[in-house]
Amino acid sequence: MTLWSGRFSGKLNEQAWALNTSLPFDRRLAAQDVRGSIAWAEAIFKAGILSAGEQATIIGGLNTIAAEFSSGRFTFTASDEDIHTAVERRLGELIGAAAGKLHTGRSRNDQVATDFRLWLLDSLPELNSAICILQSTLITLAEKHTATLMPGYTHLQRAQPVTLAHWLMSHFWALERDKDRLTDLRDRTAILPLGCGALAGTGFPVNREALTMALGFDAPAPNSLDAVSDRDFAAEFLFCAALTSIHLSKLSEQIGLFTTTEFGFFELADAFSTGSSLMPQKKNPDLFELARGKTGTLIGLLTGLLATLKGLPSTYDKDLQEDKVPVFQAFDTLTAILPVLAGALETMTIHADRMRAAIDANMLATDLAEYLVRKGIPFRQAHAVAGKAVRLAADKAISLENLSLDEWQACGAFESDVYTVFDPLESIRRHNATGGTSPDSVQKQIQNAKCRMMNKKICIPHSSFRKRRKNHEYRYLPRM
Ligand code: ARG
Repeated sequence: MTLWSGRFSGKLNEQAWALNTSLPFDRRLAAQDVRGSIAWAEAIFKAGILSAGEQATIIGGLNTIAAEFSSGRFTFTASDEDIHTAVERRLGELIGAAAGKLHTGRSRNDQVATDFRLWLLDSLPELNSAICILQSTLITLAEKHTATLMPGYTHLQRAQPVTLAHWLMSHFWALERDKDRLTDLRDRTAILPLGCGALAGTGFPVNREALTMALGFDAPAPNSLDAVSDRDFAAEFLFCAALTSIHLSKLSEQIGLFTTTEFGFFELADAFSTGSSLMPQKKNPDLFELARGKTGTLIGLLTGLLATLKGLPSTYDKDLQEDKVPVFQAFDTLTAILPVLAGALETMTIHADRMRAAIDANMLATDLAEYLVRKGIPFRQAHAVAGKAVRLAADKAISLENLSLDEWQACGAFESDVYTVFDPLESIRRHNATGGTSPDSVQKQIQNAKCRMMNKKICIPHSSFRKRRKNHEYRYLPRM
C-alpha cells in the first residue's frame, strides 16, 4: 500500500510503478531520512501533536530503524515507493498506530529536500578530504623539487624554464579553489526546508528555528514555495564537481603527455598503469585518461540537472526526483578518482635529467631581452633585438648560446656577460616575485599552501563546522 492510496480505487500499473519508484537510488538517504524524522517527531511533540509517550515510542522506533540500516538488517518490501515510505512502513511494523502520527504537518516534498541537503552536508567533508589527500601529495612532491628544472609551456610550445615544484603547486591552487567553492556551497545547502509542508508551510505551530538547530542547519528556508523546489545546492554541487574534474583533467592531460617516450619526464609505477592486450611493450596511463574522460560525464550531469530544472514551475514537481542520481554519481566519481591520482603521483618516477635536457637556450630568449632592459634598453626594443639573435642562431642552425661575441654585438648592446643569461637556474632565481617560479618564491608558496590546508578545512562534521565559523577560525590566512 502506498502513502497516498486513499483516493484511489485501482492499483498503479506495474511498469508505471517501476518508473515512479525512487527507492533504487534514494535508499542512500536512509540515515538522513531517519535523522530528519527524529527531529520532526520532537518538533511536533513540542507543537502539541504528539504526547510525550508517543514521541518516545516514535523516536525509539526510528532509532531501531537507524540501527537496522547501519547493520544492513533493514529489509525493503515491494510496496516501498521510496525511502520515506520504507521508513514509515517499518515504523508502523515496529510501533503500531503511533507511527501514523509522524507525518503530521509534513510532506515528502519538504522531507526529501531536507534529506538530500543533509546528505550533501554529511558528504562534503569526505570529498573535501579526498581533495586534501591529492593536495598533500602535490605539496610533498613539490617540497622535494623546488630546484628541479623543467620546461614551462604555453600553447604547448617550450616557453620558459620553471621548477617542477611550481608546476605541481599550480595544480594545488586549482584544487584549493575547488575546496573554497565547496565551502561556499555548504552555506547555501544548510538552509532547512523541513516545516514547509507540501508547498504552503506546515499547518501546525512548529518551531522551525528549533528544528534548524536540531538538524545542524544554519537557518530555516524563508519561503515554503521556494523551499520545496530549490535544488540550487544540487546544481551548484554538480558545478563544483565538474570544475574539480576539469582541474583533474588538466593535470591528467599533462601527466599523459609527460609520460610519453617523447617527453619521458615521468614514469608511472606498475601499480598505477595498465598494459595492452596486444602490444607487449605498452604501459598506459589509463587512470589519468579515465580521470580526463570522466570529466565529460560530470559536465553532462551538471547540464542534465540544469535542463531538468529549466522550465519547472515553482514548488514540487516529480521532475525533481531526477536530482539525486547525478549528485550521487558525481560524488562517487570524484571520490574514486582523487585517491588514485594521489597514489599515482606519489609513486611515479621523476626523470629530472630528461626535464633539464628539454630546456633549450631559446627558452631563455625572454631573459635575453630582460638582460638588455637591465642595461637601460626599453623592453619593446630589447624584445626585437633578442628576436634578431634568435633568428640569427636559427639561420645558422646553432643553439642561441653558441653565437660568438661578435655576432651578439652585431645584434645589439650585448657584452661578454651575455653568456651568463643561459643558466636556467639563474633565470629561475630571478623570477622571485610573489607567485613566481624561483625556489624562494615556491618555498613561500608551499608554506602558504600548508597554512591554508591546516587552517581552512571542512573535514569535520558540519555542525561543529558552523560553530567554528562563528569563532572566525575559518578565516583564510592572509596570502603571501
Ligand atoms: N521520491 C520523491 C523525490 O525524490 C519524494 C517526494 C515525493 N513527493 C511527491 N509529491 N510525490 O522527489
